Amino acid sequence: MFRRLHALQYNIKRVTVVYADFGAAELFRRILRRAGIRDRELSAWRKEKQRSDAEFDARYGTDTGGVQSLADVTEIVGDNARHGLAHIASDPDQFSDMLGRLALHVADYTFVDLGCGKGRALLLAGEVPFRSIMGVEFVPAFADAARKNLAIAAAKGLRSDIEVVTGDATQFDFPSGPLLVYLFNPFDSSIIRLVAHNVMESWRADPRPVFVVYSNPIHKDEFLALGWSVSVSGPGWTAFTPIS
Ligand SMILES: C[S@@+](CC[C@H](N)C(=O)[O-])C[C@H]1O[C@@H](n2cnc3c(N)ncnc32)[C@H](O)[C@@H]1O
Repeated sequence: MFRRLHALQYNIKRVTVVYADFGAAELFRRILRRAGIRDRELSAWRKEKQRSDAEFDARYGTDTGGVQSLADVTEIVGDNARHGLAHIASDPDQFSDMLGRLALHVADYTFVDLGCGKGRALLLAGEVPFRSIMGVEFVPAFADAARKNLAIAAAKGLRSDIEVVTGDATQFDFPSGPLLVYLFNPFDSSIIRLVAHNVMESWRADPRPVFVVYSNPIHKDEFLALGWSVSVSGPGWTAFTPIS
């Protein structure tokens, strides 16, 4: 009963946010999808995603995949639940394309995944020698799953110093030193704007190499409006930097 009430409240809040961000046509399309009326493209995507999730998780024996709607989650930390998007894990090929094209000296950089979900991107980042790696996730159950996945992978040889913070991305204090912030389409435009502002302020207070990689960058205009420049981009992702 509590779960159903929670899901109903969440869905009502989302309707207003989706309408404001994408308009009536997209809202209607999403309602049809929620009702189980799915277009062919979506079911083909889900099938391929299931296959690639299983392939990735076989590597360490983890559970990072699937699509989990926030409507089905009972606890979310902070006030931004209605602005959060579903949990879907990063694509490993896109992640390595992103790191390859950015070509950073990763040993100098802290990698921060805002909305780290069950930890897929943290595991991928753990395979390259970042100076440090952190994730922030506002669903405690996902943060716990990420910690569990990281422990499983660490037992199989992955580094064991990756930290997961349970909390809202807008409240996160960015560490000093060169920084790579990673976003895999985690929230709607209002939170993207706030995060773009917060990272820019962190850079102004402490100028240093800073990049934000935004995968599936639906709201990338929020970065451009705040004066961020596109550093490099690839299929389905854009990297921003505060200096032009
Ligand atoms: C698309 S998933 C990405 C998961 C992970 N980053 C990856 O690449 O595999 C987005 C995640 O962002 C989380 N999220 C959404 N809004 C958030 C917020 N305001 N603070 C922290 N996490 C948030 C969701 O719960 C979800 O787990």
